[in-house]
Amino acid sequence: MAVIIDGNKIAQDIREEVRQSALELKKQKGVIPGLAVVLVGEDPASQVYVGKKAKACAEVGFLSREYKFPSETEEEKLLKIIKKLNKDKLIHGILVQLPLPKHISTEKIIAAIDPYKDVDGFHPYNVGSLITGNPLFVPCTPRGIMELIFRSGIELAGKEAVVVGRSNIVGKPLALLLLAQNATVTMCHSKTKDLPKVTGRADVLIAAIGKPRMIEADMVKEGAVVIDVGVNRLENGKLTGDVAFEEVSAKASFITPVPGGVGPMTIATLMKNTLDAARRSINS
Ligand code: GUN
Repeated sequence: MAVIIDGNKIAQDIREEVRQSALELKKQKGVIPGLAVVLVGEDPASQVYVGKKAKACAEVGFLSREYKFPSETEEEKLLKIIKKLNKDKLIHGILVQLPLPKHISTEKIIAAIDPYKDVDGFHPYNVGSLITGNPLFVPCTPRGIMELIFRSGIELAGKEAVVVGRSNIVGKPLALLLLAQNATVTMCHSKTKDLPKVTGRADVLIAAIGKPRMIEADMVKEGAVVIDVGVNRLENGKLTGDVAFEEVSAKASFITPVPGGVGPMTIATLMKNTLDAARRSINS
């Protein structure tokens, strides 16, 4: 039976560490980390995420501001807000909740954020520096997954890591982070031929596909570490991951549950990135 990696516990530990560091920063430098979250439209899932971010900020002692706009808001207006936030000394991190409405260019909006305040790590400067190995910010979910792996004492050097899913937010950055830790990395996607053959050689298997229970036991090597990034809402309202948890956990050495695995790490890491941004602002 696999060890179940407790993302709630690890995320809580990180939030506590961030809270302590924020207290020190305030005491020693008089700086309170500040996060601005921009939300356009009424997408219910996005509203929930934004609410959670504000709550996490309050818990760790950060300043948080929400900027909410109706879905018909013009790109120009959004660009103006971002320019203002770039100059705002009380704000160290800017996060624009995605997805944006179709008439707004996500690329343009992200490129307008000061890379030093880009706590999502989505700005082309940070994406580019992730490849060369020294980004200002790493996207929250991949950074959170690496933290889960480190804090579970899992060694990556020389291991076969297989990432299923090639999104800009998770799959691609995660592959680079695993590579930086000297894993041998393979990326799989919807056009991959004989997926079970590839996933079956993984020492570390990451499922970031968005299809409920797609990774079954016969696709997993005995003793593999299985990280499930999927968040799929079933018709009965229940959340399920991309991994068939019960059967795969009988074969894996470590596994993350859904919910309570990767999910809580994203916001904990966002707090960490915002703290980093505030610290960096002092030295610049
Ligand atoms: N929408 C879904 N995930 C994310 C994320 O990590 N950051 C932002 N800004 N929007 C998202």
